[in-house]
Amino acid sequence: MDAVSNAVHYVFLATAACFVLGLHQMNHPRTARRGNTVSASAMAVAIAATLWLVIHQNTITTTGWLVLASGGLVGAALGLYAAREVKMTAMPQLVSLFNAVGGGAAALIAVDDLLQADNPAGLGARVSLPGALDIVIGAVTFSGSLIAAGKLQGVVSGAPVVFPGARVLNVLLPAAFVGGTVWLVLSPDSRTALYALVAVALLFGVTMVLPIGGADMPVVIALLNAFTGSAVAMAGFVLNETALIIAGMLVSSSGGILTKLMADAMNRSIANIVVGGFGTGDGAPAVTAGGAAQVRSVSADDVAIQLAYAGKVIFVPGYGLAAAQAQHELGDLAQLLADHGVDVSYAVHPVAGRMPGHMNVLLAEANVPYTQLKEMDDVNPEFPQADVALVIGANDVTNPIARRPGNAISGMPILDVDKAKSVVVIKRSMGHGYAGIDNELYTDPKTGMFFTDAKKGLAELKAAVGEFVT
Ligand code: TAP
Repeated sequence: MDAVSNAVHYVFLATAACFVLGLHQMNHPRTARRGNTVSASAMAVAIAATLWLVIHQNTITTTGWLVLASGGLVGAALGLYAAREVKMTAMPQLVSLFNAVGGGAAALIAVDDLLQADNPAGLGARVSLPGALDIVIGAVTFSGSLIAAGKLQGVVSGAPVVFPGARVLNVLLPAAFVGGTVWLVLSPDSRTALYALVAVALLFGVTMVLPIGGADMPVVIALLNAFTGSAVAMAGFVLNETALIIAGMLVSSSGGILTKLMADAMNRSIANIVVGGFGTGDGAPAVTAGGAAQVRSVSADDVAIQLAYAGKVIFVPGYGLAAAQAQHELGDLAQLLADHGVDVSYAVHPVAGRMPGHMNVLLAEANVPYTQLKEMDDVNPEFPQADVALVIGANDVTNPIARRPGNAISGMPILDVDKAKSVVVIKRSMGHGYAGIDNELYTDPKTGMFFTDAKKGLAELKAAVGEFVT
């Protein structure tokens, strides 16, 4: 190895350490932004080092450079535009699209490597095995992530799409790509094996994600994120690129841990995700709130009196808070109450909103003190002592129906809002949440419904509470 290659490998080692450091800093909201900057800067350095190595080795033709530069420019411009312009509420779709391009790019690397090899028949298992795995995982991720993004965007039905024989197909297809992988490893020069493997993996991505219900989509996105990392790591083995292997494995393992956490939070099994059809409930109709049940409508003044005279208030933010971009109004109201001596906290459900950490991001934006943020397991025992639980645009994560079998969210752990002494829900109508089922909390006699847009309602509450406490 010459001096430049040696130096580049040391740079890769340093960038790998920075990736780990950045991930560690993402453990806490206070250091998360710095962690993001550290990891992104390390990736920029790794790309620059790779270019230095390529220039030094002089292995790319002029056409190759043109393709590289134009692809890099177009990709960077699109990525920058999407990241800056996308609405917070559309972030999960964007993450899913990023997963799709990551997985697709990794699969194309292996396809290209096998097609361009000088002596494909002579490729050893050291290249053909990771190549085949890269194609399988990358292609599944590509098509699966496109379907997931389509479901979240409403282009593909968010309801489970189940067709006759789907479950059988989801068992047969993995068997087919195990066979295809063995075939390609044994005969790396076989174009038929290569194209068949790509086709089977693309089909499996579609049939894996289509039967999954919308409420279970966060687990799927986290899983596909882990797949993207694995595909990139395999591409690293194919190209013999240490930095790619390390970065890919870090994405894969952190995505895997996130998948497990999300699955636990929704009480779903990861194994069921892979064979499909999960998240569909058990086929029984959802138990509804009951035709005769009445809802009690309340005004801003009613709620303000309750809040001003409460000793303990727990705020429960959900997707509606994000949709209304009402985080600052919520932070102001909570601060006003805290200044008045009320014990305030925020109950954060792991899948509230539409992406992992959605509520934490919003509340951090509103400079909510971290000490007031409480995770589900910590805050649930506190609800019986709360004088008021104020739910802002949260629905499924508060629905007591989850404690019973026979509906789309059965078994999903929920925030025990119904155990508070009094409950107020801010939302615009009796409309459903993501899972599309009625919420029994709304017809509980101790619940008051404040029908309004979250931003407007919280601003009104702040003004009304202000009159009581000053
Ligand atoms: P949801 O159950 O989706 O309910 C949100 C509620 O917000 C709706 O019922 C809606 O009622 C209300 N809303 C919408 N816009 C509003 C506005 N401008 N002002 C006030 N209210 C508004 O939300 P959740 O409780 O946060 O649960 C999240 C759901 O999304 C779960 O089912 C979860 O599985 C799923 N999901 C989560 C993720 C992640 S990773 N977090 C990803 C994908 C899916 P109105 O229309 O009546 O106002």
